[in-house]
Amino acid sequence: MLAWAKGGGWAERVPVRSGHLAPIPDEVSFETAATLPVAGLTALGVLALGGSLERSRVAITGAAGGVGRFAVQLAHDAAARVTAVVGSPEREKGLRELGADEVVVGLEPEGPAFDLILESAGGSSLAAALGRVSPDGTVVTFGNSSNEPTSFDARGFYRRGRPTMRGYFVTHELLEGRLGTAELAELAELVASGRLRVEIDLVVPWTEAASAVTALLERRVRGKAVLTVGSS
Ligand SMILES: NC(=O)c1ccc[n+]([C@@H]2O[C@H](COP(=O)([O-])OP(=O)(O)OC[C@H]3O[C@@H](n4cnc5c(N)ncnc54)[C@H](OP(=O)(O)O)[C@@H]3O)[C@@H](O)[C@H]2O)c1
Repeated sequence: MLAWAKGGGWAERVPVRSGHLAPIPDEVSFETAATLPVAGLTALGVLALGGSLERSRVAITGAAGGVGRFAVQLAHDAAARVTAVVGSPEREKGLRELGADEVVVGLEPEGPAFDLILESAGGSSLAAALGRVSPDGTVVTFGNSSNEPTSFDARGFYRRGRPTMRGYFVTHELLEGRLGTAELAELAELVASGRLRVEIDLVVPWTEAASAVTALLERRVRGKAVLTVGSS
């Protein structure tokens, strides 16, 4: 089974709610399944806030990371036009193959508008997103990887029309029952059928968790890092 655990996941045993469990299909490894509960559910959840994605223009910041790579694929699968935003040219690798129509380095404050912007870099990237959303579009803020506060031009935002900024926290969604077994099973089936690729860049024993965290903080991981406990 795969499961979302409310903290304490780096352990040999952890209690989980039955509504946060789903079977792992035979085609899916434990390591791959382990990537789905947080990053996969977050990508699924934030995209759902955009309504119908068909032909909509979707920008995804942090696209080279764990959530980003899932979001790029799921948005492409839903027939959106996907702009993947990365921090540096070397982080572009593989994103077009996953379904990005274009890849840009950093979200500029000026440029074409997007119907949905999935924003997790924070700081000036969130400010740029608020200036690039379409008149009826949505900015979903769900991360602040830069750890920077955001200043933005409020007038420039509300004078566009009726854009929306929404927050999203996957923990709340799971604890309040808006996400759970059905969505975990959906992701696992997408992976089993080959429609969703899981990119694991680093697998280390949980005793080496510090090295994985360092690699993530240094922006060296393409996709997911996985910690293993015992033999899988
Ligand atoms: N709200 C929720 O429920 C929820 C759930 C899961 C994750 N999150 C948040 O969502 C974000 C992405 O999570 P993840 O698991 O995908 O993380 P990740 O795999 O570490 O990816 C983070 C991405 O953010 C970019 N980034 C890192 N530092 C940055 C900086 N200083 N300025 C701008 N961009 C920076 C990196 O871009 P490059 O690779 O292009 O350098 C990287 O691809 C994190 O902030 C995380 O805390 C929120």
